[in-house]
Amino acid sequence: MKQTITLLNGSPRRRSTSGSIIDHLVESLSNDFDIRCHRAGDDTGELIDSIDGSHLLIVVSPLYWDSIPSDLLNTFKSISETDLEGKGMIAIINCGFPEAYQADTAIEICRNMAIKSGMEWKGGLTIGGGGSIDGRPLSTYGPERNAVRALDLMCESIIKGEGLTSEAEGLAALPFFPTTLYIIAANHHWRRLARKNGIKRGLRARPYDGEESRD
Ligand SMILES: Cc1cc2nc3c(=O)[nH]c(=O)nc-3n(C[C@H](O)[C@H](O)[C@H](O)COP(=O)(O)O)c2cc1C
Repeated sequence: MKQTITLLNGSPRRRSTSGSIIDHLVESLSNDFDIRCHRAGDDTGELIDSIDGSHLLIVVSPLYWDSIPSDLLNTFKSISETDLEGKGMIAIINCGFPEAYQADTAIEICRNMAIKSGMEWKGGLTIGGGGSIDGRPLSTYGPERNAVRALDLMCESIIKGEGLTSEAEGLAALPFFPTTLYIIAANHHWRRLARKNGIKRGLRARPYDGEESRD
């Protein structure tokens, strides 16, 4: 009989980078394992039953304010009050800034939650520049190819019953683009979004500082 893995999506967005990562994991792992997918904010009882019947929990989440989204935080509170000794846990955090290390604190939050509930911490991956994926399927030829390779190495480790390797952690954290290019593209996207919402001037306004507009 196949072992079971529970995948927990921490993103509140329907079309999300976390969802793209989960789709890739399902594709890579479903030959060897039964996979159960859950979302933070859905029925916590069902999720805990699912973790209880699995040998591994993989949490995939965005970084929100250097932490994790509130639905996932609430879910973590419930999981950490449950004895889940004998289960393993891995976390994958993607963030908007190009530097993957921004997600290090969130990985620590996940690790602490694993330890509190008695799970064995198997490691975490941090991925920067997540906004450039935004729900599209991951590609081995796209800018995210190193992250995809890291996910594939992670799946190989899971199939062998091992924890994450430092090679996988290092590959996941490599930037998708040079940081300066990423910032130019992100600023362009931000201005386009502002124009689309009828804002032509005042993007740098700081009304609470008494400054109406600095454009
Ligand atoms: C409320 C909110 C807070 C965020 N905080 C951060 C942050 O502190 N650092 C960061 O690098 N990105 C931050 N981001 C960007 C997300 O981490 C990024 O867009 C991510 O790719 C979204 O992943 P998802 O599509 O799986 O939800 C934030 C996004 C939102 C909506």
